[in-house]
Amino acid sequence: MQNFQLTRRAVLAGMGATALTARMGRAQTAPTPLTAQRAMAQIAPEGYPQTEVWSYDGTLPGPQLRVPQGARLQRRFVNKLDVPSSVHWHGIRIDNAMDGVAGLTQDAVPAGQTFDYDFVAPDAGTYWYHAHTNSMEQVARGLSGALIIEEPDAPDVDRDEVLLLDDWLLDPETAQLEQDFTHPMDLSHGGRFGNLVGTNGHYALTLTAKRHERLRLRLINAANARIFVLRLTGLTGWQVALDGMPLPAPEPIPEELVLAPAQRVDLIVDVTSDGAQAAIERLGNDDQWHSQVAFEISGEASRSRRDAPAPLPPNPNMAPPDLTQARPLEMKIEGGAMGRMSRNQMQGLMQSGNFWTLAGKPGPGDAPFAQLSRGEPVRLRFVNDTAFPHAMHLHGMHFREVLEDGSLGPMRDTVLTFAGRSHEVAFTADNPGKWLLHCHMLAHAAAGMSSWIEVT
Ligand code: C2O
Ligand code: CU
Repeated sequence: MQNFQLTRRAVLAGMGATALTARMGRAQTAPTPLTAQRAMAQIAPEGYPQTEVWSYDGTLPGPQLRVPQGARLQRRFVNKLDVPSSVHWHGIRIDNAMDGVAGLTQDAVPAGQTFDYDFVAPDAGTYWYHAHTNSMEQVARGLSGALIIEEPDAPDVDRDEVLLLDDWLLDPETAQLEQDFTHPMDLSHGGRFGNLVGTNGHYALTLTAKRHERLRLRLINAANARIFVLRLTGLTGWQVALDGMPLPAPEPIPEELVLAPAQRVDLIVDVTSDGAQAAIERLGNDDQWHSQVAFEISGEASRSRRDAPAPLPPNPNMAPPDLTQARPLEMKIEGGAMGRMSRNQMQGLMQSGNFWTLAGKPGPGDAPFAQLSRGEPVRLRFVNDTAFPHAMHLHGMHFREVLEDGSLGPMRDTVLTFAGRSHEVAFTADNPGKWLLHCHMLAHAAAGMSSWIEVT
């Protein structure tokens, strides 16, 4: 009876009153918290102790955040760590004030304090979020999670699995994280590599699947430095998006799928294995393939598909940059171990605590690498004059690689540059603000490979 009256009153009051209540409700309720806190996680195989990590909401990885395309994401970041932190929403074309880069777009959130993140997610796709204050240490301790922006019409698949790939550097006896987060060897060489590789916070992730089932797999490389080289067995399909952005048409999955730190790939695969297992395998340092994610197959899907999936709908306002009008920029990447810097140059650099330079400068400094006017097309050439690969990431805007024949590659937010090679990317500087441009091997970013551009 009471229910009925409530309903009736609501109906009588009409839309106006409902809308008003909703508005008042929003003003009064605090946004959902996202809390950085210590937690214990069973990363290592069963039988080993749990590992103390820094987590969002007590889980490793952090909670999977999902919102529909175009919706607002609101989270009150609550910092229950005893050091300052901030949250970066990687790959989102975001309002600059919400980008989460301590020291550039906001002050780090002190221990015990909060910060309200509130933004609209314009693009559907696979993104992620992670700490962007002392990120080399904070991400290695566990502060990352998946951010999924859903298409209005989901593709025709049976299941959608998010697979956040990561590695951890653990003491083999105690299974606790090695605490030397700024080891000079990591800073000057390839970065901090884990000795335990896993997925979604587990050493050996096993999922179940049905034969002929069609899966959407969203792979995210959340590792500090590791470049994943992957292959599929018993799974056949297509890649449909890179770094969140749909490919114009689904493409066959390369035999060896390369995923640099921070990169994502969306796959649509059919379970085609004849046996009891399918897997995503990873190429190890020992040149052997290891299981990264295992699928145990039981049963048959009710429907089997063999046709290529439809392309994901393109995200809005993604016109390719006009190369003929583009301003050319060059960013030389130098330094590091076994590089071409002279001993003297290297020593000078190390006095500032750095091992690397971008365009001759160690670290972001006070002045931007480039000052761009809004709407300006840019072509940016990364010249990797070091002995290591680097995953160069631009905040706030996606770019396309300018391929050897002058055509434009797919949209990405992170490009893997190889030692001794140069890679050119092009983009339209259409998002105003201060945007970080850095290597996503986070030890490199901490040791000089961070810069920024400003769009006004
Ligand atoms: Cu994943 Cu500066 O970002
Ligand atoms: Cu690097």
